[in-house]
Amino acid sequence: MAAPAPDEKDLLRILTCGSVDDGKSTLIGRLLYDTRLIPEDQLQALVQDSRKFGTTGDELDLALLVDGLEAEREQGITIDVAYRFFSTDRRVFIVADTPGHEQYTRNMATGASNCDLAVILIDARKGVLTQTRRHSYICSMMGIRHVVVAVNKIDLVDYSVERFQQIVESYVGFAASLGFGSITASRSERMRWYEGPTLLEHLESVEVHDALEGKPFRFPVQWVNRPGLDFRGFSGTVASGKVRPGDRVVVASSGQEARVARLVTYGGDLPEARAGDAVTITLEEEIDIARGDVLAHATARPEVVDQFAAQILWMSEEAMLPGRSYLMRIGTKYVPARVTRLKHRVDVNSLEHIAARTLELNEVGVCNVATATPVAFDAYAENRETGAFILIDRFTHATAGAGMISFGLRRATNVHRQSLLIDKAARERLNGHKAVILWFTGLSGSGKSTIANIVERELHARGAHTYLLDGDNVRHGLNRDLGFTDADRVENIRRVGEVAKLFVEAGAIVLCSFISPFRAERRMVRELVDAGEFIEVFIDTPLAECMRRDPKGLYARAQAGQIKNFTGIDSPYEPPEHAEIVIDTRDAAAEDSARGILKELRRRHIVA
Ligand code: ADX
Repeated sequence: MAAPAPDEKDLLRILTCGSVDDGKSTLIGRLLYDTRLIPEDQLQALVQDSRKFGTTGDELDLALLVDGLEAEREQGITIDVAYRFFSTDRRVFIVADTPGHEQYTRNMATGASNCDLAVILIDARKGVLTQTRRHSYICSMMGIRHVVVAVNKIDLVDYSVERFQQIVESYVGFAASLGFGSITASRSERMRWYEGPTLLEHLESVEVHDALEGKPFRFPVQWVNRPGLDFRGFSGTVASGKVRPGDRVVVASSGQEARVARLVTYGGDLPEARAGDAVTITLEEEIDIARGDVLAHATARPEVVDQFAAQILWMSEEAMLPGRSYLMRIGTKYVPARVTRLKHRVDVNSLEHIAARTLELNEVGVCNVATATPVAFDAYAENRETGAFILIDRFTHATAGAGMISFGLRRATNVHRQSLLIDKAARERLNGHKAVILWFTGLSGSGKSTIANIVERELHARGAHTYLLDGDNVRHGLNRDLGFTDADRVENIRRVGEVAKLFVEAGAIVLCSFISPFRAERRMVRELVDAGEFIEVFIDTPLAECMRRDPKGLYARAQAGQIKNFTGIDSPYEPPEHAEIVIDTRDAAAEDSARGILKELRRRHIVA
């Protein structure tokens, strides 16, 4: 009998957790042996379906070609997650297989994010290990609610029933805090899964109730059809729930309501669209909807906030720094976001909470996150589609972290901006010059403060309203609590940026003299003010020259190991790529450099 088409059957996504020695390959082999492979032509839909989270098509196609991760290792190819597809008469199965070691935590999380059930392998001789706990924690964090504990190699402990029970009890005790809906145990001998059919029977019949269809309707708008087509519609994929023509829906962020007119697809209109369906929704009333908005039923809306608590799994070689601006993708929306507070890191092996300032690759942290504009979401525990986000590095565009929202921290609407009667333009008119940030960046000893001081003296002499913020001074007051770790430097510049912005709003020319070694934070300050209001002045003095000058004797001390994290010695400096003004101090006196900057300010009509 030919296997029924995958989409006509119930689908179960399984994650296998364990290492090769645990018998993971044997288990997967056994499942494959007892079932049927799915014909090539029916695979496409399943492959599409498994792509959601972090895997690209290429990786998947590759995963289908090579058999397992061992082959991968031999061939030196890296695969995040290997997927295998098979079926019985009752169900279609997708098995996601990922390496088990700690350095593959992010791969495991990627695999787990789509799965309904996890098979956690335990060697009967070894019992519940650190890695068992790590795998279980990641499964729980990624929203898996059903676990099968597969105790293997029971023959090597003389088929001891006590041992088996002891392992199961110790696992159940440990997992109590992880909130799984069901934990089932299964056992086998070495090389042969005698319990194979039983395990398979369980996998065929286990009820996974958290089907997305049963959740409230959520529709993240992927794009808005341009006017000029024969209708105005909103295209996307139903993330959860169902919708029918005639339903009243709202735009989550604005609360504007309208009635659904049609559910349009290439194959004709649908009477109902469900989770996973790609449709274009047309509405009876005209309301404002943009890409990234979420449509929901008026009676069951998602939360809308600009601050929330979340668990974040860091996936980048470059550490997560609180205060740094990342690009968040949540649903179809992209929005700048920052971690405002790292409450603690979770040791994925012991589940202990550990105080931390940053998150390194494969580390998990509990954080508060702030977004530039409010976002619509559901808690991840309630809806894995609308409760998950990724953080993207704004320079490399690579995925830097994956987040699961726990709860909203404050309604976006509770803190309003007070509008001021006297605005920046009025102050600029009174002052007779533009308000800007002159941002001096460069190594310690490069001459930033010297030049900035002369520029300020000259501006002041011409009647301009100015203020100079200098690293050494600000660090005695506002930023007294900050040192020189990467995280502290990010926070230093973030605060200074906010202060500088206030000065701009007050109509002043604010000169900022900070090493500000990271591009990301200089860009963040640039984005705080309007176009043309941030003028980056790169004091481009080579390190060797700064060390030769060493005006404060700090380089000598840093080289002697007496100062840690010193810029240029054991802490990086990222030179600007598009500074408005670049000053080479090697063959110009500070007075000349300052004159050059003043000339540029006149050319830009900032001062007359
Ligand atoms: S920044 O990197 O966060 O922008 P900032 O400009 O505020 O630095 O402060 C730099 C000044 O602090 C330097 O000019 C130097 O006098 C002093 N300093 C003390 N320790 C360090 C250090 N480890 N690295 C760089 N500067 C240091």
